Amino acid sequence: MSVMREKLDELDRRRAESELGGGADRLQAQHAKGKLSARERLDLLLDEGSFVELDRFVTHRGTDFGVEAQRPYGDGVVTGHGRIDGRLVYVFSQDFTVFGGSLSEAHASKICKVMDLAVQNGAPMIGLNDSGGARIQEGVVSLGGYAEIFWRNVQASGVVPQISAVLGPCAGGAVYSPAMTDFIFMSRGTSYMFVTGPNVVKTVTHEDVTMEALGGADTHGATSGVSHFTTDSEVECLQGIRALLRFLPSNNLDPAPRGAGSDPRDRRDEGLLDVIPDAPTQPYDMLEVLRRVVDDGVVLEVQREWAGNILCGFAHLGGHAVGIVANQPAALAGVLDIDASVKAARFIRFCDAFNLPIVTFEDVPGFLPGVAQEHGGIIRHGAKLLYAYCEATVPKLTVITRKAYGGAYDVMSSKHIRGDFNVAWPTAELAVMGPKGAVEILFKREIAEAANPAGAMEAKVAEYTEKFANPYVAASRGYLDDVIDPRDTRPRLIEALDTLQGKRVRTPAKKHGSIPL
Ligand code: HXC
Repeated sequence: MSVMREKLDELDRRRAESELGGGADRLQAQHAKGKLSARERLDLLLDEGSFVELDRFVTHRGTDFGVEAQRPYGDGVVTGHGRIDGRLVYVFSQDFTVFGGSLSEAHASKICKVMDLAVQNGAPMIGLNDSGGARIQEGVVSLGGYAEIFWRNVQASGVVPQISAVLGPCAGGAVYSPAMTDFIFMSRGTSYMFVTGPNVVKTVTHEDVTMEALGGADTHGATSGVSHFTTDSEVECLQGIRALLRFLPSNNLDPAPRGAGSDPRDRRDEGLLDVIPDAPTQPYDMLEVLRRVVDDGVVLEVQREWAGNILCGFAHLGGHAVGIVANQPAALAGVLDIDASVKAARFIRFCDAFNLPIVTFEDVPGFLPGVAQEHGGIIRHGAKLLYAYCEATVPKLTVITRKAYGGAYDVMSSKHIRGDFNVAWPTAELAVMGPKGAVEILFKREIAEAANPAGAMEAKVAEYTEKFANPYVAASRGYLDDVIDPRDTRPRLIEALDTLQGKRVRTPAKKHGSIPL
């Protein structure tokens, strides 16, 4: 008995030691920067008391540049599993107090172990990144460790959701692994992502740039589109991960959790009658439309600060978790440009991989013309969106609220690319282009030669509007399943989602397609 007690004392001592990380001074420095410790973050992320740690006694195997003098337990990363709202998740949380959270061979092998378990057991993988990248003292061995993680990121892609929070100055490999996960969270003031930091930038390109401007949360949230969620604090960030998981299945075979709300399935919304302005060029907020339709008005927007002309987000409709893609007339008239195309294409592919139906709200004047867009490759990038919609086999539902012009009509989940349920509001205009542009092309000479050009123009616009700028031509051909009362949007979508639960699609056998990247 006494031997057992002695051994237990030793175990307790070693456990306590494993929780020290890089020591009290470095922990204090971490707190002084406004950052939490690796373990404090896990406490906030996971259901209380649910964390089970693995590999706490792992140490690094390095022998160069004096690292052998320090072999802290855990080697700078806390790994294991826990629960979020009762559901199993695998986690790693890097400890910046140990060699700057840098990645050694041992550190990498701990991360690889939980990634393998996440895929094997069909549970989301969440990484809390706070790392200076490859551990310099371990050289190519640490690069090999990163490559092992990258490979696993790709194997896990489309099998389990992968979520990253960047919670420190992450450089090198520490950004490329998050970049291959499905969602990146960043927190203002403490999160940074860059391939190389400001000093290297200064040497190579002679540019003076701050950490914040080069790779801070707002830069990646609003300018580069690298991150998906920007928060004001680490606490908000960790809560955000929990909120996101409420819409996601644990893996590509399990259903997504049903929404817990009590919003009546048959609720009609009177306010939807007044959202669309009378003037066809006047903007309105599509988010208001979405909030009036989805359960309890809750839409979790993805990449909210980037490419605001398209909205992507998760919601529940009659309890079904769905991905929503919506043109936003309040930003750039809801036009499709390079960033909007890339943003929505990626989102659609995620939804398709995880069996989340895609609900599209459409009011789009077309693709954005211009030299900058053409030279930037709008053809290539717009094709990503078209490809993603065509490729998706999940239930696809489309509501056209106003404009569906030109190529954008085809792209935005039209019947022709296998939309399952396509409806329009009576205000919808489905045409090759808007009335004014069309009339200017078709009747240029007649209008110029008319005694009253303005009157002739007006008459032709009225004729064109009557003939084409309405939903009934498309409905007469079955391109639309129905023209609906806007107030019925919610019950009609829920009914359609119910019918599409058993959707099965057969696609040609192939290794994989070649999306225009
Ligand atoms: C070993 C490292 C380290 C690293 C930081 N440390 N990065 N140790 N390998 N990569 C250590 C420091 O020596 C220091 O140890 C402690 O972590 C904290 O670092 P500081 O520099 O004091 O912190 P800070 O001022 O906050 O700066 C953080 C930082 C900076 C911006 C991350 O440390 C930095 O630039 N590090 C190097 C980043 C980098 O170039 N990594 C390699 C990328 S290449 P002490 O003992 O003083 O506490 C890569 C290849 C992957 O990752 C492949 C990609 C495809």
